[in-house]
Amino acid sequence: MLNIVIFGAPGSGKGTQSERIVEKYGINHISTGDVLRGEMKNGTELGQIAKGYIDQGQLLPDNLIVDMLAKTLDGFQDSKGVIFDGFPRTIAQAEALKAMLAERGQSVSVMLDLDVPEEELMTRLIKRGQESGRADDNEETIKKRLVVYHSQTAPLIDWYRQEGLYAHINGLGQLETITNEICQAIDAVK
Ligand code: AP5
Ligand code: MG
Repeated sequence: MLNIVIFGAPGSGKGTQSERIVEKYGINHISTGDVLRGEMKNGTELGQIAKGYIDQGQLLPDNLIVDMLAKTLDGFQDSKGVIFDGFPRTIAQAEALKAMLAERGQSVSVMLDLDVPEEELMTRLIKRGQESGRADDNEETIKKRLVVYHSQTAPLIDWYRQEGLYAHINGLGQLETITNEICQAIDAVK
């Protein structure tokens, strides 16, 4: 089983690169952000709760996200593995993921840290906001998401280093070049 955590700041390319990895390795993809946006679109109770946090660029409470993730994971049949995109985002979530996989006799294979300079993140997200209308892609909310990333999510870099699972990826440049670096990191642990 290949269990990959794709990690990085908002706009670092987690979703874009996940699609390519799914295609190449035939594994399942869970993007917690995409699941939450789906819930919002369908007007579910979780979606209504999520909207309040997402519009403010804040993280949802860990317990809600962990329950949602466990349900999605249990829905995968005959899976070759999973790429986790946008999860974990706190140390508590990383510990929950470790426990959840251990219960299933599995573990995280590698954590890929897409490293992109902050000006580039802002440029990408502003552009996407204009093209797609994603509600949290406006300058004010992007700034809040970056603050949350630095304070609550970036500490996971050291956490995964200590687990011996960390792989640095240069997330700036051509999509193909980035994908190649990612594939090398995956093939090294396969
Ligand atoms: P989420 O949906 O996970 O958003 P995010 O982390 O802010 O990241 P994005 O999806 O915006 O960026 P990405 O890294 O996927 O980049 P992408 O490939 O799209 O989370 C949204 C919200 O949900 C959170 O703020 C929180 O409220 C909540 N949430 C989600 N997970 C949670 C959790 N675990 N716990 C608590 N709350 C949670 O690329 C971005 C753009 O750049 C695209 O337009 C793309 O085309 C472009 N691009 C990509 N690569 C390149 C490149 N190499 N060169 C130029 N452009 C590029
Ligand atoms: Mg994404």
